[in-house]
Amino acid sequence: NPDALARAESLIATIPDFPEPGILFRDISPLLADPAALRTIAMAMAEPFVGSFDVVAGVEARGFLLAGAIAIASGTGLAPIRKAGKLPRPAGSVSYDLEYGSATIEMTDDLSSGARVLLVDDVLATGGTLRAGQQLLEQLGFSLAGTSVLMELTALEGRSVCGPVHSVFTV
Ligand code: PRP
Ligand code: MG
Repeated sequence: NPDALARAESLIATIPDFPEPGILFRDISPLLADPAALRTIAMAMAEPFVGSFDVVAGVEARGFLLAGAIAIASGTGLAPIRKAGKLPRPAGSVSYDLEYGSATIEMTDDLSSGARVLLVDDVLATGGTLRAGQQLLEQLGFSLAGTSVLMELTALEGRSVCGPVHSVFTV
């Protein structure tokens, strides 16, 4: 429903100079707070992959906000991809560079082998985070059903780093 999507998009706030000067921060909090918008974007993020994934993996922290909603809307399970040091028994680990800083993500191997995983996050910027997520899933032998984000910052050309991504909104 294009009207529902346009309405959801209008609820994303753009904040200049956060968390550092020169960074234009996209705040999805107003969208998350709206029941209809949250449901609309959860379904839109999963839409091209419906029936082809068993579990949604969201990248800490903002990916978690969407992964839970998508999993419930799609009737699938959920797998957290966590920042380093949070999991008692990580089975895999990948480090990557961010637009500002660097990070390591980790995951357990609790999914059944061959699980088809939809990898999700809030924003595709440089693509480093999603590439790392893809590498982590591959490291653990899971099958990547697709990669989906709420918002793609096209000027940063993240796709050249992490390959095809379904993005609900582009800016
Ligand atoms: C932000 C955003 C994405 C990532 C996108 O996460 O939530 O995960 O950057 O950037 P990239 O495409 O250049 O990798 P961040 O690690 O800043 O923090 P978060 O814990 O708030 O999600
Ligand atoms: Mg993030």
